[in-house]
Amino acid sequence: MDINTEIKNRRTFAIISHPDAGKTTLTEKLLLFGGAIHVAGAVKNNKIRKTATSDFLEIEKQRGISVATSVMTFDYKGIKINILDTPGHKDFAEDTYRTLTAVDSVILVIDSAKGVEEQTLKLMEVCRMRATPVMIFINKMDRDGKDSFDLLQELEEELKIAACPFTWPIGKGSDFKGVYNLYNSSLLLYTPEKSEKSEILINTGEKDDPKLKDFLGQKTLTNLWDDIELVSELFESFQENLYNEGYLAPVFFGSALNNFGVLEMLETFLDIARHPTETETKERVVKPNEPHFSGFIFKIHANLDPNHRNRIAFLRVCSGKFERNKLYYHPRLNKNMRFSAPATFMANSKSTVDEAFPGDVIGLYDNGSLKIGDSLTEGEVLHFKGIPNFSPEIIKEVVNRDPLKTKQLEKGVRQLTDEGLAQLFIQQMGNRKFIGTVGELQFDVIKYRLEHEYGAKCDFHSTPYIKACWITSENKDALNEMLRRRAGSIAYDKENTPVFLAENEWMIKIVKESHPLVTFHSTSEFNV
Ligand code: G4P
Repeated sequence: MDINTEIKNRRTFAIISHPDAGKTTLTEKLLLFGGAIHVAGAVKNNKIRKTATSDFLEIEKQRGISVATSVMTFDYKGIKINILDTPGHKDFAEDTYRTLTAVDSVILVIDSAKGVEEQTLKLMEVCRMRATPVMIFINKMDRDGKDSFDLLQELEEELKIAACPFTWPIGKGSDFKGVYNLYNSSLLLYTPEKSEKSEILINTGEKDDPKLKDFLGQKTLTNLWDDIELVSELFESFQENLYNEGYLAPVFFGSALNNFGVLEMLETFLDIARHPTETETKERVVKPNEPHFSGFIFKIHANLDPNHRNRIAFLRVCSGKFERNKLYYHPRLNKNMRFSAPATFMANSKSTVDEAFPGDVIGLYDNGSLKIGDSLTEGEVLHFKGIPNFSPEIIKEVVNRDPLKTKQLEKGVRQLTDEGLAQLFIQQMGNRKFIGTVGELQFDVIKYRLEHEYGAKCDFHSTPYIKACWITSENKDALNEMLRRRAGSIAYDKENTPVFLAENEWMIKIVKESHPLVTFHSTSEFNV
């Protein structure tokens, strides 16, 4: 197959949601359709249960599972589908944001009773930042949820995206009868069974089809036509370019648990979701069908076996063909690397791949040379854009508990932060080290891993800081003046970029006002 066909036949996406909306359940149903698994429950993905908030042994177990589900690949009707898994727990949100840099589109799951939730908003912000096309699955229609019009209005207002219903629900909760497909004028009847059997589909064609009346009754049918009329007045009709640009989201209603409405969404998704496209680098735009291979690392997973400190780096192929055992160029280290066992993962199995194409994600074994954001090429220097760090919200100071193990602690902290687990900031005054994260859970993970993998012991002391903002200025003197005047609140990230450690939002405002020529950034990539 030539590379253009390979590209056209690939869909790489992530399923995202606020925890508990039904992401795991939906993922599982898709895998069942693809024949990638055969029984429900075979994939409990890397969801960290609410009860396990600071149980690091549980986290360790989950880490094992999450390697296997980092990317789930299967074929469906000749299309190669790569679903990139994202952690459900909000403390791992940054991992999720980075995974979103490696997908071409997303499916957002919304709980029909809860509507837009906190994590939904944050995830959508990241999608907007990258103009990622979004499709929405409104889940749990078998439960009493919000009014469908209200829900769509909420989506539009809060997610700042035009909702475009592809299906429309008939009733909800115990009264849920099914959905009407607005695009192929068919009725999908709901059968409340947790089975994988196919759904009943009635092609109606005609508005006054007597079969419709038989199934729904006159009253429900009249309501349905009224609703549909209103839908066409209130919401945008589908335009592929608006979807591809991330302005318009096709919306489907269903119930993942009951496997209802899922297949419909999948088939529409495969039809309209875009295949791997161009990727921006600092140097130029990379097209997927270029003859030379290029790709970037967006996730690193430390090996579970602490005696062998090799890690798995996840690479998204952006252009050309990746081949096993070929020498590739690592621009940051200016060296060549060869990978003899690139892997793909599925459910609980792992296999070696000989080649991979744009859109594919492969796991590369490595003992520390690869960092998040690194690129691999056939010789060209490329820096892929859009893999930023985000302003951490919890900042703690690392305090060594065993002076004899200082070296191990330094190494451990560096390597774990290279993995993207947290961010490291070093204050030159007093050489204090701060770890910044988006959640508390990471501190337990880091502490546990420092002890078990590096033999180092540390404590994390609270600091008054609530945020770290990267600071830049075109005016060197203005920047230097701020660095001097605010030295007590300045630290440096790994790239040696200064960050301002703020104690509260008010402080940020005041400091911004007194240093008007300095720009404050909430992500480490300033031109995104
Ligand atoms: P998440 O990955 O987004 O966090 O959500 P997950 O799929 O684990 O679903 C969260 C809960 O919602 C699960 O129940 C799941 O069974 C339920 N659920 C998912 N889809 C539907 C649906 O369409 N209708 C209804 N009524 N429930 C749904 P749980 O009791 O928390 O977990 P479990 O014991 O079933 O695994």
